[in-house]
Amino acid sequence: MEAKTCKIFQSSFLLAFFFLISYMQTAVVAASTDKTSSNTYKIYILKSCNSTTYPNDCYNSLKPYYNKIKNDPLKLCKTSLKVALRTARNTSALVSSIKKQGGLSSAEEGIVKDCIDAIGDSVDELKDSLDEIGNLGSGSNLEFQIDNIKTWVSAAITNESTCTDGIDEGKVSKSVKNKIRKSVVNLARQTSNSLALINSNLKYYN
Ligand SMILES: *[C@@H]1O[C@H](CO)[C@@H](O)[C@H](O)[C@H]1NC(C)=O
Ligand SMILES: *[C@@H]1O[C@H](CO)[C@@H](O)[C@H](O)[C@H]1NC(C)=O
Ligand SMILES: *[C@@H]1O[C@H](CO)[C@@H](O)[C@H](O)[C@H]1NC(C)=O
Repeated sequence: MEAKTCKIFQSSFLLAFFFLISYMQTAVVAASTDKTSSNTYKIYILKSCNSTTYPNDCYNSLKPYYNKIKNDPLKLCKTSLKVALRTARNTSALVSSIKKQGGLSSAEEGIVKDCIDAIGDSVDELKDSLDEIGNLGSGSNLEFQIDNIKTWVSAAITNESTCTDGIDEGKVSKSVKNKIRKSVVNLARQTSNSLALINSNLKYYN
């Protein structure tokens, strides 16, 4: 009797052991699949960014979102626009704070004011583009929507260079110039990369 109990115990122990091993194998396989797909997703971003003007900025700004973008060209474009919009809002806040701090000459004040307007327009255009990309294919003409997005992102780039041209050409102290330039140049790179990604990934086929 005792021996039998022991045998049953032994075989159920073996069974449990077998399940444990196969569970561990599944876990190992799942973990390596995760690793493979995250590498695949990062390579997808790397390759997509390769066709932009500033590939390193592009990759560094999108890499944190690889798990959301996966291999999806639409999510790639959307995320890139989101990053550009966030950067534009940040730049807008920075330029506004320079004006609020005061101590500007009247020439500087005019130039900084023009920058605030230009970056403000850029924020609006990026916001409109992001809204439109979120509504793609929702009944309206897809080709028209894609054209709108391209037009607005291009306009945002033009507005950003209006700001940098203004501070480069005007009478602006070095410290004001450097602060604004750094932020706007970074924004212009993000926006240019977004346009490049949109141009190569958002296509209308008929
Ligand atoms: C990026 O493009 C260059 C040439 O334009 C090519 O040699 C390189 O392999 C590309 N890299 C990726 C990750 O696609
Ligand atoms: C926002 O701007 C500040 C000042 O230029 C900078 O330190 C910060 O990293 C920026 N944040 C983002 C999300 O761009
Ligand atoms: C921004 O760009 C748009 C479109 O090109 C233009 O109509 C607008 O006047 C620009 N804004 C500023 C402040 O330069």
